[in-house]
Amino acid sequence: MDEIVALSKRRGFIFQTSEIYGGLGSTYDYGHYGVLLRNNVKAEWWRAMLRDRDDIVALDSAILQHPRTWEASGHLEGFTDPLVQCLGKCKKRWREDHLRAEQLGDEKAEGEIRCPECGGELSEPRQFNLMFKTHMGPVEESGSEVYLRPETAQGIFVNFKNVLQFSRKRPPFGIAQIGKSFRNEITPGNFVFRTREFEQMEMEFFVPPADAPEWHQRWMDERMRWYTGLGIRPDQLRLREHGADELSHYSSATSDVEYLFPMGWSELEGIANRGDFDLTQHASFSGEKLEYFDQASGDRYVPYVIEPAAGVDRAVLAFMVDAYEVEEVEGRKRTVLRLHPRLAPVKAAVLPLVSKEGMPERAREVFEAVRAKLPAEYDEGGSIGKRYRRQDEIGTPWCITVDGGTLEDGTVTLRDRDSLEQTRLAAQEIPDELARRLQQPWRSPKLAE
Ligand code: GAP
Repeated sequence: MDEIVALSKRRGFIFQTSEIYGGLGSTYDYGHYGVLLRNNVKAEWWRAMLRDRDDIVALDSAILQHPRTWEASGHLEGFTDPLVQCLGKCKKRWREDHLRAEQLGDEKAEGEIRCPECGGELSEPRQFNLMFKTHMGPVEESGSEVYLRPETAQGIFVNFKNVLQFSRKRPPFGIAQIGKSFRNEITPGNFVFRTREFEQMEMEFFVPPADAPEWHQRWMDERMRWYTGLGIRPDQLRLREHGADELSHYSSATSDVEYLFPMGWSELEGIANRGDFDLTQHASFSGEKLEYFDQASGDRYVPYVIEPAAGVDRAVLAFMVDAYEVEEVEGRKRTVLRLHPRLAPVKAAVLPLVSKEGMPERAREVFEAVRAKLPAEYDEGGSIGKRYRRQDEIGTPWCITVDGGTLEDGTVTLRDRDSLEQTRLAAQEIPDELARRLQQPWRSPKLAE
């Protein structure tokens, strides 16, 4: 993980927020390549939800919701973690269940746990609500309290009736949304794996109750395919079913997609059968009917919900970890991000061999033609070797070098990030060739190891 953190900072993917003030607990900013990678991850999710099927519609609900939303959803009462505080020297706060898992092998195990920092005794646990509270309007008084949403899902449930009216969909159908969520985590950590401000990609799929188990299975298969289709090695990915004692208050069955992160198997995405819990709760708290009336059969029912809920930041981290490789090429260390070309922040870099003899001008022309087809970068600073290394580190799948030969016969060198193969091609063929390569299936070269 340290190497990923260092690469992220060195190449401007992800870094501490407010660094000049010493940072702010586990809060991160995304730089240029981080933004591009993140955008590509989100675009692939939208593509899987919207473009590749026609039973899901999009939504972008507000971060601030009516406070009753969180009463109905159960978050106000039950969205808590058990907090213990060190009574010894360091006075640090910890999550009791995490300490039990680390020190006793199971988060529910009985027995004494100690402060991992200073070995001090710990306080009795108290339930700590993870929602960030703020006030709406100029006066901080009770009644003006609102919450930053801890999940995007509730914005979908409260809009069920609206969406049903304008989308002309009937179950089975889904509502998808990507957006920021906030949780006042007691122990954030592991880089962007657990932070207090993060982004979710959630889809609520409404089905006739009897069909829920089948759709749950379908969505588990679908979501596993999404990750492996974008290059995650299948042996680093698994589905883990929650035990009865792990299930959230709303769920009758949940399986987590887990990735083998450097700190061990950890949740990437949860896929839950939420039953009719949310629609029933919001119907009862709001007085609105949140149900579906099937005119053909005359059936009226509250749909069940299957929810694949993923984290953008965790997905970005998993794609980076899975892609990261350090190898030796001709006696020199090469760090490379073997990202799926569709996820790579930059698809192609155009590099003049030297910045003289008319090469930069010719390379600029090639660059203009390439970037008309796909995201590309022009780089003329430093030795060609250093520029290749830089592109390898940000995961650029193809580099095009303009050299003396280009000026003579119009050909350029096309270098492949993964195989390091260099092919000579006519410059005018490059944009179409790259567009063709981008459409090809891709398999992680790390799989062959
Ligand atoms: N609506 C259901 C829901 O929110 P969740 O398992 O609490 O379920 C879904 O969250 C996903 O959101 C997680 O699998 C994870 O990828 C991401 N996520 C949750 N808490 C996070 C945090 N503190 N930091 C980063 N990502 C987080």
